[in-house]
Amino acid sequence: MNLIVALFPLLCAALVSASASKPALPSNYNNVTGTSSQAFPTDVGFEGNLAYSKPPLMAQTDKLNSTKSRGCFGVELRVEPLNYQKDNATSDDIYRNLGSASVYHSADDLFPETKGYAPLPDQCSLKQVHILHRHGARNPTSGDTSGAGLFGAAVWNASQARKLQASGPLEFLNHWNYSLGAEVLVHQGAQEVFDSGVHHYYQYAKLLEHLKHKPVLRTTSQSRMLDTARYWSLGFFGWDAASKIHLEVLTEQSGQNNSLSPDKSCTNSDNDDYAYGDLLSAEWEKVYTKKPAKRLQKYLKGIELNADLIYGMINLCAFETVVLGNSDFCPLFTKEDFENYEYDIDLQFMGNSGFMNPTGRAQGVGWVVEMLDRMNMTKYDGPISGQNTTLDYNSTYFPVDQKLYADFTHDSVITSVLTALNFKQIGEYLPATKPNPNRRYRASRVTPFAARFVLEVMDCRSDELKGHYLRAKINEAVVPLDKDQGCNPRRDGLCKLENFYQYQLKNAYKHSNYNKACFGKNGTDFSVYGPVRDGTI
Ligand SMILES: *[C@@H]1O[C@H](CO)[C@@H](O)[C@H](O)[C@H]1NC(C)=O
Ligand SMILES: *[C@@H]1O[C@H](CO)[C@@H](O)[C@H](O)[C@H]1NC(C)=O
Ligand SMILES: *[C@@H]1O[C@H](CO)[C@@H](O)[C@H](O)[C@H]1NC(C)=O
Ligand SMILES: *[C@@H]1O[C@H](CO)[C@@H](O)[C@H](O)[C@H]1NC(C)=O
Ligand SMILES: *[C@@H]1O[C@H](CO)[C@@H](O)[C@H](O)[C@H]1NC(C)=O
Ligand SMILES: *[C@@H]1O[C@H](CO)[C@@H](O)[C@H](O)[C@H]1NC(C)=O
Ligand SMILES: *[C@@H]1O[C@H](CO)[C@@H](O)[C@H](O)[C@H]1NC(C)=O
Ligand SMILES: *[C@@H]1O[C@H](CO)[C@@H](O)[C@H](O)[C@H]1NC(C)=O
Ligand SMILES: *[C@@H]1O[C@H](CO)[C@@H](O)[C@H](O)[C@H]1NC(C)=O
Ligand SMILES: *[C@@H]1O[C@H](CO)[C@@H](O)[C@H](O)[C@H]1NC(C)=O
Repeated sequence: MNLIVALFPLLCAALVSASASKPALPSNYNNVTGTSSQAFPTDVGFEGNLAYSKPPLMAQTDKLNSTKSRGCFGVELRVEPLNYQKDNATSDDIYRNLGSASVYHSADDLFPETKGYAPLPDQCSLKQVHILHRHGARNPTSGDTSGAGLFGAAVWNASQARKLQASGPLEFLNHWNYSLGAEVLVHQGAQEVFDSGVHHYYQYAKLLEHLKHKPVLRTTSQSRMLDTARYWSLGFFGWDAASKIHLEVLTEQSGQNNSLSPDKSCTNSDNDDYAYGDLLSAEWEKVYTKKPAKRLQKYLKGIELNADLIYGMINLCAFETVVLGNSDFCPLFTKEDFENYEYDIDLQFMGNSGFMNPTGRAQGVGWVVEMLDRMNMTKYDGPISGQNTTLDYNSTYFPVDQKLYADFTHDSVITSVLTALNFKQIGEYLPATKPNPNRRYRASRVTPFAARFVLEVMDCRSDELKGHYLRAKINEAVVPLDKDQGCNPRRDGLCKLENFYQYQLKNAYKHSNYNKACFGKNGTDFSVYGPVRDGTI
């Protein structure tokens, strides 16, 4: 069922007709990848609960008269936060702090010791690259019960009851309607991933020379995932990309094994009892939304601004920006509000998918096992941990001879993969009381829209570096590898490939406790009392 449509019967009539061509969900698996009459079908159903937004009209709606350059973006990223002069703040304090709904930007300030980008050392030649990529900017997925949609519902209800009275900075609400869609990739997102395809073409295209078959790229069936893989491929391979690659589409249907959407098979990951991210986020929202609620309530009658609604308003700043191009919600909040919101999203991801979740490692290890096989060019042979073995045992669907791999997935999965790989570099225990401004983990830096985690394998022939080395990058910034990945820390962040590989082979699956963490029962197979520290039970 389309949640948004259920809530906004009148308002959404337009949205429904816009998405009327949506195919019905299939009730069988007879035509999915690996069973269809075509080897690589892309139309396999399971595309999600989609709704299209109203179309933008930014030329009219964007009233910002700024002399600052608009850059190459179509959307408005130049709005300054409330009180920006007093706080010495800039538009970056809004748009870089929107958590996983931030538009793509490189993680240049996440690992200051590696300065964002570093060239490959001399006398090292690149041998192989593994890219794990998030989809680009999309419509919200939170439906009507939280976030942007909840605030939309509150305004709709109040105006239907003729109780809404907004003034001052909130005056716009008197004429405002919720007009976002659900789940589908937006144009900003298409641009992000097309640009990424172009970027990665220049970075790595030579690695695909001499490949004896079409490169297999993998994504999932959800509309935004399929669209992302396609736009990325257009950027990398050109307009006829579809004829140059095999696009493998793994279905996102509950119960299916899918290493790019592991929650579909790892049962406990969908159990609300362990959704510590949601729990901590709710606690933290009660704290930081008080100030803005007090500040804004005096301009609003007919709606009582509670924690959920303030969160929804900041959420609207993020999503209206990417869906409609600009948002009147952005200048309502201060630099501090946006920093607190960013931390809210950090709590959600660390607690639902990262080191603070008991299935954090388990949800990421499926991809890690596959990556290790590709790294060593070893045919897949388990350990079964979320992979669809029917596909992975078959080299048509799981080739290990490519020098470039690109898999498309979700922010939560990238977070879990980093957890499974024991990247304590971004792993922290986050309290719901107060953000540490010097923390190492920020969802807006690790998994903004179109985020990419990249592993580069290289062969080095210098006095200092001999043999195979590995480098890891998050959004172009080099992640300095260290003892938590079995590496001897180096200034350039590189690691001897063998050390990393052996460490992960020995530990990643073992420490995920896959079967117990995913399918075990609390009190019998394990005891979990609250947020964990090590991403497992
Ligand atoms: C798979 O099934 C869905 C839903 O029935 C249908 O829309 C789609 O065209 C089918 N795809 C293939 C490749 O047969
Ligand atoms: C692997 O998949 C291909 C394409 O669907 C199929 O033709 C082949 O029979 C499969 N191989 C095995 C060993 O199942
Ligand atoms: C827009 O900004 C410019 C430069 O600050 C100023 O000269 C101009 O009067 C402004 N226009 C409007 C309509 O506010
Ligand atoms: C304002 O911020 C900029 C950079 O964000 C910094 O260089 C400058 O020192 C700050 N000024 C004050 C008065 O804090
Ligand atoms: C809006 O009204 C509907 C129908 O009365 C109700 O179910 C829903 O909870 C209300 N939502 C908000 C956010 O007030
Ligand atoms: C909001 O929706 C109402 C009812 O459909 C419509 O009359 C109004 O023009 C809309 N307002 C805007 C700003 O789109
Ligand atoms: C594995 O993939 C095959 C082929 O796509 C599919 O028919 C099957 O349902 C999948 N099994 C699971 C458990 O995901
Ligand atoms: C890695 O590949 C080599 C060469 O094919 C093989 O001998 C070795 O067993 C592989 N390692 C693992 C852990 O599979
Ligand atoms: C799916 O995953 C389950 C649980 O890990 C496993 O028992 C089963 O063999 C897998 N099925 C396929 C087709 O990969
Ligand atoms: C797990 O079980 C223990 C008691 O055995 C209980 O105290 C705890 O609250 C349970 N945890 C969850 C998440 O349900």
